[in-house]
Amino acid sequence: MQATATAHSNIALIKYWGKRDERLILPANSSLSLTVDRLSTTTTVSFDPDLAEDRLILNQKSADEKSMARVSRFLDRTRFLTNTNQHATVISRNVVPTAAGLASSASGFAALAAAASRALGLQLDEPTLSRLARQGSGSACRSVFGGFVEWQKGKRRDGMDSYAVPVASQSHWDLVMLITVVSNQRKPLSSREGMRRSIETSPFYSGWLETVENDLIEAKEAIASRDFEKLGRVVEANALKMHAVMLGAEPPFTYWWEPTLSVMKKVWEMREAGIPAYFTMDAGPNVIVLCERENVAKLQQGLLHIRGVTDVVECHPGPGITYEKEGMQP
Ligand code: PMV
Repeated sequence: MQATATAHSNIALIKYWGKRDERLILPANSSLSLTVDRLSTTTTVSFDPDLAEDRLILNQKSADEKSMARVSRFLDRTRFLTNTNQHATVISRNVVPTAAGLASSASGFAALAAAASRALGLQLDEPTLSRLARQGSGSACRSVFGGFVEWQKGKRRDGMDSYAVPVASQSHWDLVMLITVVSNQRKPLSSREGMRRSIETSPFYSGWLETVENDLIEAKEAIASRDFEKLGRVVEANALKMHAVMLGAEPPFTYWWEPTLSVMKKVWEMREAGIPAYFTMDAGPNVIVLCERENVAKLQQGLLHIRGVTDVVECHPGPGITYEKEGMQP
């Protein structure tokens, strides 16, 4: 009744922004991501008939109530699959190369889905595991796979056709993502709230939906032919569009900080100067700069000099879920 799994985080190239079903976490649009090597979560789940309630130890500390409740609700979904009512101890550790709040719910819920289902003796196929992870956190469904991954939004109301599929393997293209860290503060608004407000109030949301599927097709073509400029252009435009949706909401909101803009401007300047680089941002102030290996050193130097930038983490394509024999100790 115990299993350990590791999942890596992913960064969206074409973003998921907006849900068509909040309970099942079904997205309004399909999305595309790259699983990255340097951000991961390893989780051990042990079900125990003698436990009176679930326990969560996160990075060697007892987790707060909110995180515990979210994990417990997720465990209920896995318990439901096997008809068990046993509680579990969950020991989870995030591997992040910096203290700047880069741990993600994507790697967290992908590792939890894998470890919990294995601990219950289930051998889930990949679509099923991806659907399960999705119900913890939408973007987690993409972390089941390594390399380039598409989350197909699906059409069905029960979500059976909404899961991730691999697009190109980890070794297909050594694209580099420089995570340019500008803040470790908590986001002012959860992505769940931000998505809801965008759908309900932003007049730009319809423009987002009209164009995002085409962005996805273009990005997939660029990945297939390893066309860096083509990929960079559509990735950057897609991220800016998502952030424009937020600026159009009522009340408006943004996840950007002053240094976020400085990094964006720096990337534009360096591109003007002939260094191919593009950026993307998630629901947070950090900027992810996309480049190829030969330009890493020059870009890193330029980015680290910007006021407010505290770290630049170099990431490469990472693997999908793996299982370990040994359990972790708290
Ligand atoms: O899966 P969530 O609820 O953490 O939402 C992720 C939303 C974005 O990071 C902004 C976009 C994405 O596709 O990952």
